[in-house]
Amino acid sequence: MRIYRDEDADLSILQGKQIAVIGYGNQGRAQALNLRDSGLQVLIGNRADEYADQARADGFSVLPIAEAAARGDVVMLLIPDEVAPEVLVRDVAPGLAPGKALVFASGYNVAFGFIQPPPGVDVVLVAPRMIGAGVRDLYVAGRGFPSFVGVAQDATGRARDVALALAKGIGSTRAGVVEVTFAQEAELDLFTEQCFGPAFGQVLTTAVDLLVEEGYPPEAVLLELYMSGELAYTLAKIAEMGLVEQTALHSRTSQYGSMSRGMRFLLPELRERMREGLEEIRSGKFAQEWAAEQAAGCPTLEALRQAARAQPLHQWEQELRQALSYAPPPAADLLAGHGASAREGARPGLWMRAGAWLRSLLGRVRGPGEAAPTRPLRAEEVPAVFRAFLARVAKDEALHAFARDRDLTVHYLLEEPDLEFHMRFAEGRVAAGFGAPPVPAQVRLRARAEVLDGMLTGRIPAMRAAMTGQLRFEGEARLALGMQAVQGDLSRLYREARQEVTGAVQ
Ligand code: NAI
Repeated sequence: MRIYRDEDADLSILQGKQIAVIGYGNQGRAQALNLRDSGLQVLIGNRADEYADQARADGFSVLPIAEAAARGDVVMLLIPDEVAPEVLVRDVAPGLAPGKALVFASGYNVAFGFIQPPPGVDVVLVAPRMIGAGVRDLYVAGRGFPSFVGVAQDATGRARDVALALAKGIGSTRAGVVEVTFAQEAELDLFTEQCFGPAFGQVLTTAVDLLVEEGYPPEAVLLELYMSGELAYTLAKIAEMGLVEQTALHSRTSQYGSMSRGMRFLLPELRERMREGLEEIRSGKFAQEWAAEQAAGCPTLEALRQAARAQPLHQWEQELRQALSYAPPPAADLLAGHGASAREGARPGLWMRAGAWLRSLLGRVRGPGEAAPTRPLRAEEVPAVFRAFLARVAKDEALHAFARDRDLTVHYLLEEPDLEFHMRFAEGRVAAGFGAPPVPAQVRLRARAEVLDGMLTGRIPAMRAAMTGQLRFEGEARLALGMQAVQGDLSRLYREARQEVTGAVQ
């Protein structure tokens, strides 16, 4: 694959041309400033908002989008991908006379068919692999950052030259530019967000979970794995030196240990899950789902955000960040716990509280005096307990109130012993019983009976069950998350049912 450098790009094909940068946000501001500093003629097209004020303050002339697009020979669409199709059709396309160039910083809309570029114009991609602030800072520092360039439509025969010249103008050919298709850029970007990132997150949480379960102090676990910043530093070194070469920075014990054990984690299932994710991206299934979600006003995204914010982890991370940001304490202080407390002033015992929270989140690690685990149910008791539970669910007033403005059917599939039941919350009524639900369920939950019993009695945290694969979920995430509102009521009814059947007080 060819890497394009400064000498492969010719800025002169942009000399005397008017560049219209539409949007003055993360990328718009950074790219416009860099292009101007590279001696090119830049104006800004923006709606009347604070971004337009910033552009004026930076000394640019700012026009309404339609006017700027009409004036530009090169029109760079640097607004959020979600709004680009509408803005393009309404404001930009009428000004795109044949021979002009339309430039994107993301392949998404063209790749998934949300934008059909007008004929007669060059359609190119100049997509920095760098956030806007980095695009500007690195340029000012005389350094570069990599970008992808691509050509979706070559009306003039010079589309690639235009893309490379723009890449040079923003400072990217100093570091190196790679040519890809719009689809490749979009798919790689989504793969990183939807497969690599979440898989990496699961590796991290699995490691925390396992080590705390095995009795290591949570504070030490967090520091060891990522909160000391060593991981971030190592990742930077991997980017700089490569995965193999950076091993030289680690001890020989570390080199031997990690290389001799690496094969153990070649897990075929991981590859399969990534392939599934990639398939969803390439087939356009994700793009269609996301378009429908946006058309509906993003209810699922909002539910997911709320659920994430409701996690104790979110609050702890915020407190911790605040505590560390003023005077990052040396690792030894943090590990000791007390040093960090003294430094925190108004936040005594932060690390100790974080440790207590982690223990409660992950379960199993119990301090003296904490409740002993519930006796596991015998297999023959399971049907009777769930029958009594469902009878209570069907009659409970709090659940009827929950069902008032809802239409939610949940299908539970238990194993060991096998038992199938459902709950339906609709129009202020609650139906619950054994067997499959009378209508298709929006949410299906699978678990061993022992696991659901543990979750409903508080013995097993739901997050941990999901994290370790003991609880499997299928269906609509937004509706499943809504169930959190009645988790306490379901737990209360289950404990009552359990006590009635087993006679044991929890
Ligand atoms: P941004 O969110 O910073 O964009 C803000 C700009 O969009 C403002 O000028 C605002 O006036 C304008 N805008 C917002 N809504 C609008 C609407 N409804 N109508 C008209 N104008 C509107 O966008 P960002 O993050 O700079 O992204 C721009 C492009 O760059 C996207 O294609 C994105 O995928 C791509 N990109 C972004 C990166 C980043 O660092 N954020 C990195 C690489 C590519």
